[in-house]
Amino acid sequence: MKTIKDVDIADKRVFFRVDFNVPLDPNRKVADDSRLVAVLPTLDYALQHNAKLILSSHLGRPGGKIVAEMSLAPVAERLSQLLQRKVKMAPDCIGTVVKTLVADMKPGDILMLENVRFHPEEQKNDDAFARSLAELGDVYVNDAFAVSHRPDASVVAITAHVPLCAAGLLLAKEIDYFDKAMSHPKRPLAAVVGGAKVSGKLGALENMLAHVDKLLIGGAMANTFLKSRGVAVGKSKVEDDLIPVAEAVMKKAREKGIEFHLPVDAVVAGKLAPDAETTIVPIQNIPADAMALDIGPQTSELYAKALGDAATIIWNGPMGVFEMDSFSRGTLAMAKCLADSNALTIVGGGDTDAAIHKAGIADKITYISTGGGAFLELLEGKILPGIAALQHADSRK
Ligand code: 3PG
Repeated sequence: MKTIKDVDIADKRVFFRVDFNVPLDPNRKVADDSRLVAVLPTLDYALQHNAKLILSSHLGRPGGKIVAEMSLAPVAERLSQLLQRKVKMAPDCIGTVVKTLVADMKPGDILMLENVRFHPEEQKNDDAFARSLAELGDVYVNDAFAVSHRPDASVVAITAHVPLCAAGLLLAKEIDYFDKAMSHPKRPLAAVVGGAKVSGKLGALENMLAHVDKLLIGGAMANTFLKSRGVAVGKSKVEDDLIPVAEAVMKKAREKGIEFHLPVDAVVAGKLAPDAETTIVPIQNIPADAMALDIGPQTSELYAKALGDAATIIWNGPMGVFEMDSFSRGTLAMAKCLADSNALTIVGGGDTDAAIHKAGIADKITYISTGGGAFLELLEGKILPGIAALQHADSRK
């Protein structure tokens, strides 16, 4: 797939689709700028090559209408600080005013378009809307990995209307690391999968069975697997309807010789609350009136041992309710385990990313994906529509 480095962008209007869907604090300042920082290499490259930078993004889910709180103005302000350059804010993402602003741009100028999702056509992948966006650029660059699983107008339809399309450096890096981890991994390849629900991770689990050598399960989703093995899990969250599926996953893992791990102990409490009284129990001894809310220390030790010889580790989903200190130790221990590992470590998903930052070891992870849903869809083995659109655009030329 072509990247921005393969395209002549000097003096050109380059329309960037970025994912600046970032949290804002109560003062409407950017609370976490990691998605901005992640595209700086691409933007710096474009600035060094004298392009005119037109940036397009969504923020939140305004549902196709103008929601003032979801304006990208605070993002433009933060980006301007990061780039130490003026980032002009446009009042919309299409229309005559925007066209005039673009027409007045000089190389090195940066224009941030207003939230594309203020228009209902964006999430309908509307062709006429995509054409209006496309009119603003000579070159289209998708550097929005985190939204590339959405078949939206600024991600997919637009690629049919801009003469030259390419991936940004972040998108290329995300694909490259994922490829290293899943398609051509150094083995053993281990996946650590956690989170609340088996249902949310089912596709990912099924696809990973075709790739991994080891599978380690944590989080509330482990309860469904445990129950299917006949473990009494008390009041713990279980998806009873998925017990047969959990059984099928374990059977397939066995048939394929995949090392499959479930928790051997748990931190339990009678209620999910920060002040709940907690106990650590072997997994067979979860009291009938308690629920498992984190993996226990023996499980952490066992999992660290299982990951000891891994050459590649993929982690998605926390090991417990890590937002509450009493139930965060298992997730923090997993974060430390990855930090101490010599393996190529890839982490994805909003919660997992938050856990890595809470553990303070972000710099010890080989690659932290900027994608949540997009990362999960890659784990499911899907081809993301935004990436497919770029590949299609490549083949057209
Ligand atoms: C994300 O934050 O995962 C992306 O920006 C996609 O947002 P969405 O789930 O609202 O499409």
